[in-house]
Amino acid sequence: MVQLPVRPRRLRSTPAMRRLVTDVHLHPGDLVLPVFVREGLTQDQPVRTLPGVVQHTRASLVATAKEAAAAGLGGIMLFGVPERLDATGSGADDPDGILNVALKDVREAVGDDLVVMADLCLDEFTDHGHCGVLDDRGRVDNDATLERYASMALAQAAAGAHVLGPSGMMDGQIGVLRDVLDSGGYEDTALFAYAVKYASGFYGPFREAVNSQLTGDRRTYQQDPAANVSEALREVRLDLDEGADMVMVKPGLPYLDVLRAVADVADVPVASYQVSGEYAMVEFAAQAGAIDRERVAMESLLALRRGGAQIVLSYWALEAAREWL
Ligand code: PBG
Repeated sequence: MVQLPVRPRRLRSTPAMRRLVTDVHLHPGDLVLPVFVREGLTQDQPVRTLPGVVQHTRASLVATAKEAAAAGLGGIMLFGVPERLDATGSGADDPDGILNVALKDVREAVGDDLVVMADLCLDEFTDHGHCGVLDDRGRVDNDATLERYASMALAQAAAGAHVLGPSGMMDGQIGVLRDVLDSGGYEDTALFAYAVKYASGFYGPFREAVNSQLTGDRRTYQQDPAANVSEALREVRLDLDEGADMVMVKPGLPYLDVLRAVADVADVPVASYQVSGEYAMVEFAAQAGAIDRERVAMESLLALRRGGAQIVLSYWALEAAREWL
C-alpha cells in the first residue's frame, strides 16, 4: 500500500460531492441570445453555416423573444438584415428599418422581462459591407461614422432597446453615443461596449446570417489577433472612461487570456461573445459524429465563465437555458 494522505479524487467521488465543490456556475440569466431578423421574410430561413440558427421573420422573432423571457434568459441581441443596402447604411437609422421595427416589436412583447439589446453597427446595412462609411479614398472614416452611429443610437433607443451594443470599433464611439443618448433624454439606455474585438476568422459563418458581402477586411478598425494584450486593456480603459456600462471581449474561446486580463481590471460587468465560428465548429463536428454536441457546448460555455465572463452571448443560449442547465 502506498501512503497517500492527499487524494484529490476524494472530492470527485460522487455526483453530490462534485456538486458541493463546484465553483463555476452558469445560470439562464447570464446568457444572451443573438438573433437575426430579415426584412421581407415570410418564413424563417435556416442559416446554412450555422446549424440550428435561422433568419427570423418579425413574427417568429417575437415568438422567440417571448420564449427567451419565459426561460429566464438575461437578454436578446438583435441583428437586422435589410432588403436594400447603400453606401451610408441608411436602413440602420430609419425608424421603419428592419432592426428598428423589430426592436419595437420585441420590446412591446417582452416589456422589461428580458433585456432587449441592439447591435449598433453599419456592416449589415452598407453595400460595401464595412462597419462604417467610407471616405473618398475608400477608407473607413472614423468621425463620419460616429455621426451615423449617433443617429442609429437615437433610432434604437426610440424603438425601445434597453441596451445598445456598438460593435464597429470606431475610436470614441462610446463617448459620442453617451452624449447623444443623454441629450436625447435616453440617459437610462445602457452601452454595452464591444471594447475588445479582434479581426477574426471565427466570424466566417456570421456573414451568411446577415447576407453581408464585405470586400477587403476589417483590420484597420478591429484588433490584430497577434497584437499585445495591453492594447486590449487600453481599449477597455478608454471605453470605461467614456461611460461604458458593460464591456465585451470577442471572440470567446480563442481569447480567454484577454478575457481574464480584462476581467481582472474592469469594474463593470464583463462579457464574452461566443461567435459564429466557435458555434459552427462544434455543430459540424457533432454532425460528423466526432464529438458530443451538448457536452462540448456546455464545456465551452463554462470555459468562458471560468475565464472571467459574467455574461455570455451564445447561439446556444436558449437551448442551454431550457434544456442543459
Ligand atoms: C459587426 C458584427 C460582427 C459580428 C457581430 N457583430 C461581424 C464582424 O465584425 O465581422 C460577428 C458575430 C459572430 O460571428 O457570431 N456588426
